[in-house]
Amino acid sequence: MKKKVLSCIQPTGKLHLGRYFGAVKNWANLQDSYECLYGIVNYHAMTMPYDEKKLVPATWKLTFDLIACGIKPECIFIQSLIPEHAELFWILNTMTSYGELSRMTQFKDKSLKVQTESKTDFISSALYTYPVLQAADILIYQADYVPVGKDQEQHLELSRNIAQRFNHTIGKEYFTAPEALFTEVPKVMSTADPSRKMSASLGEKHHIDVFAEPNRIRKQIRAAVTDTGVSSDQMSEGVSNLFSLLKASGGEEPYNEMMTTYQNGSLQYGKLKELVSDALVNMTDPLRERRQELEKDKKRIKAIIKESSATIRSKAQETLKEVKELVGLLNVKF
Ligand code: TRP
Repeated sequence: MKKKVLSCIQPTGKLHLGRYFGAVKNWANLQDSYECLYGIVNYHAMTMPYDEKKLVPATWKLTFDLIACGIKPECIFIQSLIPEHAELFWILNTMTSYGELSRMTQFKDKSLKVQTESKTDFISSALYTYPVLQAADILIYQADYVPVGKDQEQHLELSRNIAQRFNHTIGKEYFTAPEALFTEVPKVMSTADPSRKMSASLGEKHHIDVFAEPNRIRKQIRAAVTDTGVSSDQMSEGVSNLFSLLKASGGEEPYNEMMTTYQNGSLQYGKLKELVSDALVNMTDPLRERRQELEKDKKRIKAIIKESSATIRSKAQETLKEVKELVGLLNVKF
């Protein structure tokens, strides 16, 4: 039997190259070797200030984006169509200590972000407890592996601890303790400010949408910051980012060629940028075409995703029913 892989993504921001190389591309590759489940976690998207009019369109948009990137529709679920996640979250909350949650570094980062970047300084307690919802997302399907970035390592450790504590409390090896699946992913930085991670929230010129038109991609790479004016023996962050993009987008050969010119001191930035653009456009062309096709077929795809969510939901319902029995919750139909 194939091992189970589960990962989730928040329907916030755009699908830019950082998210693509950091997660989605890898998810697509894992589908051959594992039984995969990928969630669009809209409950999680409510933990930061958000616009309730935009959340539904953003949820569908990301669903189409994932399919265009090669994720099989039957592997995708939308979290709010499976409310059992929220119910398991409550039960797991009772098995998570306040101390554990207060050690989560992402809460500190994100609450600071709310205070500095949004119009409000309201920090919801959901932002504080969201790692427990993440544990519920994983444990409800008894996932073996969770492909995540290093920023999620602490949350995954918490999921393992919660699973083990649950098992210990009820005296039975019920939950599978999930393991992180770290894969080598390129660190994609903003092309306009290569000292910062590529992110949609930094603004237009800082990120490249996977589905952007070729002209747009070329223009943005042409404008990429290379030298920061500080001389040093090390490769500058901007140039290093261009090299990473070249390698990640399948340009192994031009990568080696350019690296040789860098080493012998004859690297031309213009040439490097041209090769990066070519590689990116080659890679994204078929994705953009697929995305445009899907746009014409929205209704049918939505129906497929609702169905896949319903199928996936039955597994979640099964787990929740067992969990309620195990923890002593009344669970009968009147
Ligand atoms: N917390 C993750 C993030 O912010 C998203 C997420 C939610 C997740 N539930 C998950 C990731 C379960 C892996 C498994 O990116």
